Amino acid sequence: MHNAWDFDEHVYPMKQEDLHDVLAIEKCSFLSPWSQRLFEEALASPISINLVVKKGKSLIGYFIMYNIEDEVHILNVAVHPDYRGKGYGTKLLHHVLTTFHKERTMEFFLEVRESNTAAIHLYRKFGFEIIGKRRRYYSETNEDALVMSLLREGQKAHDSAQ
Ligand SMILES: CC(C)(COP(=O)(O)OP(=O)(O)OC[C@H]1O[C@@H](n2cnc3c(N)ncnc32)[C@H](O)[C@@H]1OP(=O)(O)O)[C@@H](O)C(=O)NCCC(=O)NCCS
Repeated sequence: MHNAWDFDEHVYPMKQEDLHDVLAIEKCSFLSPWSQRLFEEALASPISINLVVKKGKSLIGYFIMYNIEDEVHILNVAVHPDYRGKGYGTKLLHHVLTTFHKERTMEFFLEVRESNTAAIHLYRKFGFEIIGKRRRYYSETNEDALVMSLLREGQKAHDSAQ
C-alpha cells in the first residue's frame, strides 16, 4: 500500500482560496457535484474536517468529513482525474484514519454508489464493510447507495484490553 507522501506532497486544511481548484475536480468527478455553497458550509462548520492534498502548488485531491463524538461521516473525497490510480486516495485515507482515531475508538461511515468500484476497492482495502443499502439514493440515476463502516479501535481501548 502507498502510505508515504513524497517530499513535495502535503496535506493541509482546506481554505476558501482552494475552492476554485476543488470545484473543478468536484465537477468532473460527480454526477451531482457539490455547489460552492456546500463547500463553504463545510469550511464554516465546527464539526467538519476539510483537507486538501497538494503536490507543489497543484491541488490534487480533497477529503471532507464530519466528526461528532466518536462517529466520523466521510462526506466527500476526490482525486484529480490526472492523478487517479497512483495511490493518492489510499494515502489520503490512510492519513485520515491514522490521524483522527489514534487514542479514541472511532466509527467511520460513508455512502458510495454501488457502481463505484474504484471507491469501494479503496474503502475495502482499509477494512470498511458494507452494512446496508439505501435504495435509489442517487436520484439522477435511481442508483442504490452502499453504506459502509469501519470501527477503528483507539490505542487506549487496545492498551486496557492487554
Ligand atoms: C475514488 C478515488 C478517490 C480513488 O482515488 P485514487 O487516487 O484513484 O485511489 P488509489 O490510486 O489509491 O487506488 C485505491 C484503490 O482503488 C482501486 N482502484 C483504483 N482505480 C481503480 C479503477 N479504475 N477500477 C477499479 N479499482 C480501482 C484499487 O483497488 C486501488 O488499490 P490498489 O492500487 O492497492 O489495488 C478516485 O477514483 C476519485 O476521485 N473518484 C471520483 C470521485 C469519487 O468517486 N469519490 C468517492 C465517492 S464515495
